[in-house]
Amino acid sequence: MIQQQTFCFTHLTDPHVSSLVNVELSQLLNKRLLGYLSWRTKRRFYHLPSILNKLVDDMKTIKPDHVVISGDLTHIGLPDEFDQAANWLSTVGTPENVTVIPGNHETYVGSGWQSSFAKWQAYLASDDSSATCSPVEYPTLRIRQQIAFIGLNSAYPSAPFLATGKLGNQQLDGLQQSLEQTRQQNLFRVVIVHHPPIPGMTIWRKRLIDAKRLQQILQQSGAGLVLYGHTHKTDYRELDTASGILPLVSVSSASSSSGINIRRASYTVYRVHQLESGKWRLSKALRQYDPEQNKVVEKHHW
Ligand SMILES: [Fe+2]
Ligand SMILES: [Fe+2]
Repeated sequence: MIQQQTFCFTHLTDPHVSSLVNVELSQLLNKRLLGYLSWRTKRRFYHLPSILNKLVDDMKTIKPDHVVISGDLTHIGLPDEFDQAANWLSTVGTPENVTVIPGNHETYVGSGWQSSFAKWQAYLASDDSSATCSPVEYPTLRIRQQIAFIGLNSAYPSAPFLATGKLGNQQLDGLQQSLEQTRQQNLFRVVIVHHPPIPGMTIWRKRLIDAKRLQQILQQSGAGLVLYGHTHKTDYRELDTASGILPLVSVSSASSSSGINIRRASYTVYRVHQLESGKWRLSKALRQYDPEQNKVVEKHHW
């Protein structure tokens, strides 16, 4: 049986790459002050650039065809953090080879497009979007070989002490159409969303508010894979859909210094190919930072 070419892509999430070391007090209005204090007392000791660099260097040796980053590149979404993250993105790969979606930390408070996501525009936008710097419309669609990457935006400025996400009916309607269109094109469909996609997957204050409708759409329209982040935990679940089992997979923060196995800095490697029968074959490997060896090792293959 002749098999089509294998496509390899990686998933990393929640790198929280930026530093707040030069932040001025005048920038810390409203909820940002809480986020800054959290970074100052905890997060800067937990999210380590040295560990993130190890993961990215290891990922480059794999030479993936594409890289997916599912949000939370910043801490409190300041303009300078978007610049820092843009610089980091350029070290990961080109916009052609790297797809990014927003996380809730990018929208800690409401910000103008030009001082925030415009700086990542080329990594966020759909294939068919124009080069102008207008806000990206979601869902995005990027097709690479036989893979459709469908990006959702669940980030919005939630109230203090909340880290909820929401998609809204317009975006969910767009997702349904995009899933149908890419199914008809016989593509392997990867849905990317920052928040856990199904009700009950995280605590109330971190939930996706319209997860119930997202679940219904995924069950009706099916997909090949859902990638998400936000929980800073490696997890694997399955959802029964009209067209078969749908894996829902998250991975821990890519800069995490946690000693707990499911929270250790990791990324996943996926390989997809289509058999002549039309069925898809998907494999997944988890690569994780091992502090004792000070290197990234394969922990699990599925
Ligand atoms: Fe995060
Ligand atoms: Fe998050």
